[in-house]
Amino acid sequence: MTTDTSLIDSIRTRRDIDAVQLHTLLEQADEHLVAALRCAAQEQAVAVYGHDIYVRGLIEISNICRNNCYYCGIRRDNRKVQRYRLDKETILACCRTGYELGFRTFVLQGGEDAYYDDSRLCDIVGSIKHHHPDCAVTLSLGERSRESYRLLREAGADRYLLRHETADDSHYRQLHPDELSPVHRKECLFNLKELGYQVGAGFMVGSPHQTVDHLMSDIRFLQELQPDMIGIGPFLSHSDTPFHDQPDGDSDRCLRMLAILRLLFPKVLLPATTALGTADPLGREKGILYGGNVLMPNLSPMAVRKKYMLYDNKICTGDEAAECRACLSKRMEMIGYRIVVDRGDVKKI
Ligand code: 5AD
Ligand code: FES
Repeated sequence: MTTDTSLIDSIRTRRDIDAVQLHTLLEQADEHLVAALRCAAQEQAVAVYGHDIYVRGLIEISNICRNNCYYCGIRRDNRKVQRYRLDKETILACCRTGYELGFRTFVLQGGEDAYYDDSRLCDIVGSIKHHHPDCAVTLSLGERSRESYRLLREAGADRYLLRHETADDSHYRQLHPDELSPVHRKECLFNLKELGYQVGAGFMVGSPHQTVDHLMSDIRFLQELQPDMIGIGPFLSHSDTPFHDQPDGDSDRCLRMLAILRLLFPKVLLPATTALGTADPLGREKGILYGGNVLMPNLSPMAVRKKYMLYDNKICTGDEAAECRACLSKRMEMIGYRIVVDRGDVKKI
């Protein structure tokens, strides 16, 4: 039987997909179809970014969170977590180490921790930009007011990552308690965009109750938002959350989704995430081969690594930043790519 790959051409040329096509690409076992999808996505990524891989140094500044998302290991109600937060000097020290290792983007990620009010955060962001004016500062600190986002932008923040988690309102409510609102989340993303941030949205693949129609809504939402970056990874259960007995997301499905996103958004920044690398030992390599072009290794101090467990068995929690950096360089070389010393902005033309 010959494989009909015309739907891949149709997606690539129209830069659009319908529910039937998405269904076929996600559910069909035909390995030739999957190979054709991978090749098309890889070709598209190489056409825009060559074999360059951008890296972002991830600094997990706090695992204290006011939220109680059902999937997340650092949710408020998880009493087993040893809570921590990093002070300014520690964060600056992480950036210094990262800079020496060739990072030109720092991502400050954390739970929604009220300690980091606008004045503390603006001071931290301003200091990073003062010491490393050639670097981009990315924040990934959840939902804040428009005014707060404005002040942080003014203080020098360049980018903001806020996964929308799911674009479907009823699915959103299956993943979050009532106190969190899907409407507010989307509002935050549009506010960030309006304020001139480069914005990253995204979602988990295989989160509990997720259907192909939900993924279709995610694509429609992304087409509306037009983010600079899309972060996706498989859902992985955490033993101390309400979703402890839910099955993990399938990493192959996540790879297919990455490839589809690359065809729909040819220039978007697409990370091969840590969750993908946790689900499959070669997940990050495969993520690149399915159209990814970004890696986000951990720069957090060793002492806190194991405390930022969003899901079970997270990789790289025992490795120094320098070890991860060297390991990733080697992994990328093995598949014919190279990590570059660059801010890694989205290519506009
Ligand atoms: N499995 C996979 N990803 C997760 N995240 C949170 N919990 C999990 C989990 N159990 C993702 C969310 C969040 C990002 C920081 O990590 O999508 O936005
Ligand atoms: Fe804080 Fe999920 S509980 S991000």
